[in-house]
This record gives sequence, C-alpha cells and structure tokens, in this order.
Amino acid sequence: MKRFVDLGDFERDELLSLLELARRLQRQPEPRALAGKLMGLVFFNPSLRTLASFQAAMVRLGGSALVINPGQGSWQLETRAGVVMDGAAAEHVREGIPALASYCDALGIRIFAEGRDLESDLAEVSFNSMASLIDKPLVNLESAMNHPCQALADWKTLDDLAVPRGGRFVLSWAYHPRALPLAVPAAALHMAALRGMEVIVLRPEGFALPAAIMERARRAAASSGGSVRETSERAEALSGADVLYVKEWGTTACYGDAAGDALLRSALTGWCVRNDWFAAAPACRVMHCLPVRRNTAIADEVLDSARSAVQREAANRLPVQMAVLHQLLRSANP
Ligand code: CP
Repeated sequence: MKRFVDLGDFERDELLSLLELARRLQRQPEPRALAGKLMGLVFFNPSLRTLASFQAAMVRLGGSALVINPGQGSWQLETRAGVVMDGAAAEHVREGIPALASYCDALGIRIFAEGRDLESDLAEVSFNSMASLIDKPLVNLESAMNHPCQALADWKTLDDLAVPRGGRFVLSWAYHPRALPLAVPAAALHMAALRGMEVIVLRPEGFALPAAIMERARRAAASSGGSVRETSERAEALSGADVLYVKEWGTTACYGDAAGDALLRSALTGWCVRNDWFAAAPACRVMHCLPVRRNTAIADEVLDSARSAVQREAANRLPVQMAVLHQLLRSANP
C-alpha cells in the first residue's frame, strides 16, 4: 500500500484484511514494528481524535510523529495555484509540502472543503494539489469530501457491535448552527454501501447530498449487495433501523451561500436526535464521528445512553490507523 486516501481505492477483501490487522494489533501489540519511522502530520484545520490517535499510533508501533499547523508556529501556507502571494501566507505548499516530505517516511494531510464552489470541493482540488507533490506514503486525514480513517473506524465499530452486514443504516442530517463540510457524511455513506448495508440517507429538503456522492455510493452498494436511497420521512426511515449515523452538514441547494444556508437551517432545530426518534427501532445504535454539540445535534439522553457508540468509534480510530500505518510503512520497508 502506497497511499490511504479513499476506501474506494481498495478491493473489499483488502479492506477486510485491514480490519483484521486492526483487530490483531489490538490483541497483539507490535511495539517495535515501525521503529525509526517518522510521520509528518499537517493539519490545516483543527482536530482532537485524528491528531492524537495518529500520534498515539506511531508511538505504539515504535515510531514517532511531528505535527505542523500551518500559520500556527510555522509559516502560513498558500494552497491556491497561480495567485500573487501578497497576503498572509509566506510560503506556498509547492515548496513547503515537499520539504516536509523529505524529512519524514510518511505524511498525513487534513484540509477541509473551502465551502465556496461545490465542483471544486468535489474534485478535491486542495488535497490533490498537495498529494501530487509527494512521493512518500500519504494518508488523508480528512479532505473536502472524504474521511477514510473515520470511515474505516466506523466499519470496525459496526463489526464490533455485530451489526448485520445487510442491516439498515440510516445516515441522518442533524442541526448545527452553521454549515459543516460533507466529508464525513460522504465517507460514512460510501463505507456503509461498501459493507453491503441497506443505506437510507435521511435529510430535510435542501440538504440532499450531491448527486456524484449518491451515485458513487449506489455503485458501491451494487458491488456489495447493499442498497442506497434517500428520504425526508424520519419515521419510515428509522423503522427497524440497526444504526442511526448522525451528522451535521451544509446545504447543497445553495452551496457556499452562508446566508441562504442559515435561512434554511433556522427552521430545522428540531433535527436534534432524542429518545423519541427510536419508537420503532428499540435496538438501534447511534453513531457520530465527534465532535458533537450536545442538545443541538444529539440530546444528552441519547449520548449518555447504552444506545450510543460514539466512544467506541473514537477508540477505534487507534487500531485502524495502526493497521494503515503498518501496511504503509512496514510493508514498504520490512
Ligand atoms: N472525527 C474526527 O475526525 O475527529 P477530529 O476532528 O477531532 O479529528
């Protein structure tokens, strides 16, 4: 494995092998597997779990990590091509990223969607422009439309919870005071479709996921025996559901229009997950990638109940990332 940027780059059997390796590393730690290896972690956006779990994973495999937050203790990095750099950024990624890569055995990069132009974000312009500068192993720590590390941890969480392969997986929009990126819902949808689940995207009008994301998930479902559909009918979607995967995201009806988005979501504060959502799904588990705003997206009564799997999801970031790093760094240089 040379890169881990998208679950779609792998065959289903390869993903199942990664999950098996994650389980093996949980049972049988390999504290010297990556001795002497160094990973560079570049975060253009904030993080708690991704940052800490990658640092922990490198240390627990015998390696180490350095962290760069551009503009915070290091030079601010310009990502756009062809601009006159007379603003705050002192350095372009075209110089900065290869320099960092030359010091490390692998790089991870987090850069969220710009949130202005949907086509540009769907094309992963910012992440791909940096990926093209690197010939070392590379990990997507969350890009405009993808979060493969979260998705793999979520797949492991579904397995840990013994959720049936063909079980009903409802990906639901939830309220947030402002527009958030589409990376996690897109990645969760794709993962559940790849796993072979009956996937339902539950969202209010104006918040449908882009057609390209839905179509990609439908193709994944077709190859795995699953299905994908969307609705705004909550009771029907949740009836008999095995999993409710909760996520907040911005409107696609007027993508990049903050005022339009705010107007649409102002009427949707009722999309906060509460116990009464589960009247027809008593055994349904609740997932969320975190961070989550309590009593805004999900109520205390749900997050603090046995239904919630959010802590298991967060904990699973460590073993799946150890498996990814093991494959990227140990396999390349055994
Ligand atoms: N779920 C997730 O990626 O968390 P962080 O943003 O804290 O890394």
